Amino acid sequence: MQYHIVTYGCQMNVHESEKIAGILQKMGYTYTDKRKDADVIVFNTCAIREGAEDRAFGNIGALKQQKKENPNKIIVVCGCMTQQKSVAEKIFNTFPFVDIILGTHNLFMLESLIKRKIANRKRILDYLDETNIVEGLPCYRTSGKNAWVNIMYGCNNFCTYCIVPYVRGREISRKKQDILNEIKEIVSTNNYDTITLLGQNVNSYGSDDVSQGTFSELLQDICNIEGDFQLTFMTSHPKDLSDDLISVMKENDKIIKEIHLPVQSGSNKILKLMNRKYTVEHYLSLIEKLRQAMPNIRITTDIIVGFPQETEEDFNQTVQLVKSVKYDGIFAFMYSKRSGTVAEKMDGQVDDEIKNKRVNYLLNLEKEIKAQKGK
Ligand code: SAH
Ligand code: SF4
Ligand code: F3S
Repeated sequence: MQYHIVTYGCQMNVHESEKIAGILQKMGYTYTDKRKDADVIVFNTCAIREGAEDRAFGNIGALKQQKKENPNKIIVVCGCMTQQKSVAEKIFNTFPFVDIILGTHNLFMLESLIKRKIANRKRILDYLDETNIVEGLPCYRTSGKNAWVNIMYGCNNFCTYCIVPYVRGREISRKKQDILNEIKEIVSTNNYDTITLLGQNVNSYGSDDVSQGTFSELLQDICNIEGDFQLTFMTSHPKDLSDDLISVMKENDKIIKEIHLPVQSGSNKILKLMNRKYTVEHYLSLIEKLRQAMPNIRITTDIIVGFPQETEEDFNQTVQLVKSVKYDGIFAFMYSKRSGTVAEKMDGQVDDEIKNKRVNYLLNLEKEIKAQKGK
């Protein structure tokens, strides 16, 4: 019996697909890279932008024929799209050949749902409202020498464009001891050289449960684990990046000197509308502190263009910021309206044509900066 997984979205989803693979392997399935040969196909979806959702819809639709050829094939759709009840119901009703639909909060139930499907053949839509951390799930790592480790789930920030807090729920930190145990085990296998900690906003680790300590303390405790490994993390939110964090990064050779620090916009007006809770000036002061402490630090960022009410002047401010920071990498996105978010209802939505122009401008600027830096 064979399985195939199709993953969309961020590293969080990539890592969750490793847990899905772990569950399926424990059940006796082996991996195939061919969808056609798979007895179980899992689509682990992303809802961050409309484009991601459209691609998933198209690819799920295309499985109809395969299901006809092999009616015993089990098709599973999970992830951030189906953690939204209305989308889960829509998929259930639109694609009668999809067998099991579940979200992110009930991923740990995958084994029992597949067993139930095989036993009584009925289609399943299973949904849980609340996030809960389930420790000890099997995990089949697929990212080469890098091992992903989740330190927290969910997000409390409610940036006005973003669907993540509605999908993934409020921030919950894993227990520090569970994180340290997982990392000790990873290090003891000698199979990995890098550990990447994951969370939507790693800097606020522990704020829901202060007894776990802060993110900087967690980093220090991980660095104290004996062994030959490097440590990195994502994503940092500029509003919570502390001086302690900068000094722990500087002091520990195990921590890779790189940081992904999404700025989103170089205009204070837009940052306010986005509810990012920092100003351009504050952001630039963080960049300066980081570079003062670690002169060769690699800094990357995310930028959204065409957020509602973004004028040419606002966009120029973003361009100025990019020119002054000289990033080592930029992920530039066209704003995509997400249902249920605050920005969805804002006046001044920007035309796609303008968004396209702005995103291309940034991509060219990124190339120029890389060329200047000799990369
Ligand atoms: N928690 C992380 C990453 C969130 S998703 C953070 O706060 O940085 C990754 C990126 O997708 C975001 O940084 C943002 O630039 C982009 N993004 C999120 N929602 C979006 C939307 N509605 N339209 C376009 N880009 C979006
Ligand atoms: Fe979305 Fe903002 Fe949370 Fe990142 S910090 S996941 S952009 S709400
Ligand atoms: Fe997408 Fe969910 Fe990540 S919406 S970006 S897969 S948290």
